[in-house]
Amino acid sequence: MKTGMWTRRRMLKAIAAAAGSAAAPTTLRAAAAAGPDLELRLTAAPGEARIRDGALTRVLRYTGEVLRGRADALRISDSYLGPALDLRRGERVRIVFRNRIGEPSIVHWHGMLVPEEADGHPRFAVDSGGEYLYEFTVRNPAGTYLYHPHPHGRTASQVYRGLAGLLIVREPDEAKRALPGWEHELAIVIQDRRSGNSFSYSGGMMTQMSGLLGDVVLANGRADAVFRVTPRAWRLRLANVSNARVYKLAWSDGRPLRVIGTDSGLLPGKPLERPYLVLAPFERVEILEDFGTRAPGAEIALESLEFSSLSMGSMMGNMMGGGGMMGGGGMGGMMRGMMGPEQGEPLTVARFVISRDARVKPSEVVLPASPHAPEKPAAELYSRVSFRRMRGFFNGRDFDMDAVADDERLPLGQPTVWTFENDGGGMPMPHPIHIHGVRFRILERRGDGAPQDLREGLIDAGFKDTFLIFPGERVKVHVVPTEPGMFMYHCHNLEHEDGGMMRNCLFRA
Ligand code: C2O
Ligand code: CU
Ligand code: CU
Repeated sequence: MKTGMWTRRRMLKAIAAAAGSAAAPTTLRAAAAAGPDLELRLTAAPGEARIRDGALTRVLRYTGEVLRGRADALRISDSYLGPALDLRRGERVRIVFRNRIGEPSIVHWHGMLVPEEADGHPRFAVDSGGEYLYEFTVRNPAGTYLYHPHPHGRTASQVYRGLAGLLIVREPDEAKRALPGWEHELAIVIQDRRSGNSFSYSGGMMTQMSGLLGDVVLANGRADAVFRVTPRAWRLRLANVSNARVYKLAWSDGRPLRVIGTDSGLLPGKPLERPYLVLAPFERVEILEDFGTRAPGAEIALESLEFSSLSMGSMMGNMMGGGGMMGGGGMGGMMRGMMGPEQGEPLTVARFVISRDARVKPSEVVLPASPHAPEKPAAELYSRVSFRRMRGFFNGRDFDMDAVADDERLPLGQPTVWTFENDGGGMPMPHPIHIHGVRFRILERRGDGAPQDLREGLIDAGFKDTFLIFPGERVKVHVVPTEPGMFMYHCHNLEHEDGGMMRNCLFRA
């Protein structure tokens, strides 16, 4: 594997940057000269966590310390999850990452617009015992972002064993939007795990193909999670941090969900109502829920509803030309027996118990004005997404640590329309596609790929950094890169990513 080759050189570079030597890129030197507002230390190391009754679970976890600046910039989690980074737009942040997990790693700030050197590209991975220094200014709008490891070929197992955390960006103008304040918000990290008290990761053929699927859902690191809420409006930030599972989120009492934000900030205009929401790996959605509309003392559950369109049986049925006919039925059942958990199984994510306090009437939220229409593109790119012989490709290519092809170059500061087409050949599978270092808009989703039983739950509005593309679909995104350098795009099914369904892309003037 190439990571090893890169490690020493990059570590030296990181050390050089830390020492503020002339080798450090301009952006780093400039930030260092001004001094950061916030300096954090994030350490990844083995640990133990209580997931449910019985034996403790051996995990990997991030722990954090504030070395300089606001003490509330880190919200310690009471599970194996890393502390939630609570950042403010405009803040200059320095983060020292210490790797103590016994294998190479690097941290990526998912969804964040950061300089190339701070992006956590796998070429920056450091060996255990090493450190990496990040410096960036928070440029993203208020929203729900994530951080997680990104060493090539090891991301899936490191995330599965516990390495991930939330990164929340706040802005002062949120107060004017009549959104519930931080005391009335809940950020919920949704992950699936195999039942039992072990987080040990094992690959295998089925896992490489469908991605690792668990049969229980942990919400903020807990099985059977219960949140106590007051009868008023709450802001719920939902993040899918599962290796491969797609959720179809709905309230157990059938009420619609009111969406106010997507991957990359608040939605413009008005909240969107949906009967259920489809959340693919590493997508986020923010919803506003008025718990005051339920009976005092009531309990409701956030569930993932059953769907059959993405089960292995149905995929194989499609592959063999049998349409979706084999989906929910006998073949699906047989597959589960043979291969374990499937996409689309009904699961409970968390329960909410509403207190008997006096109801607080909600106020009308004020979402940002609609941004201007996407400008005419200066460039157009096309990527054919395919999955064959257990591996995924973009335009027939898989990951190469250094290579950037001509059709992977985007003009800096100018709009590109990037079309992704899931050819549905080989193994027809859905892929959550993610682009680093940018936020983009979805212009169009074409083809009749989106299955009937998921279609209504797709949120293509607002700004995104990850989107699900179904077999047979063509999706056009509008992107304006703002950070120069080499970033990457990949399938965010972590097993597909580790299998090489990932490529570099270059943003250059
Ligand atoms: Cu969240 Cu390249 O990843
Ligand atoms: Cu990312
Ligand atoms: Cu994929």
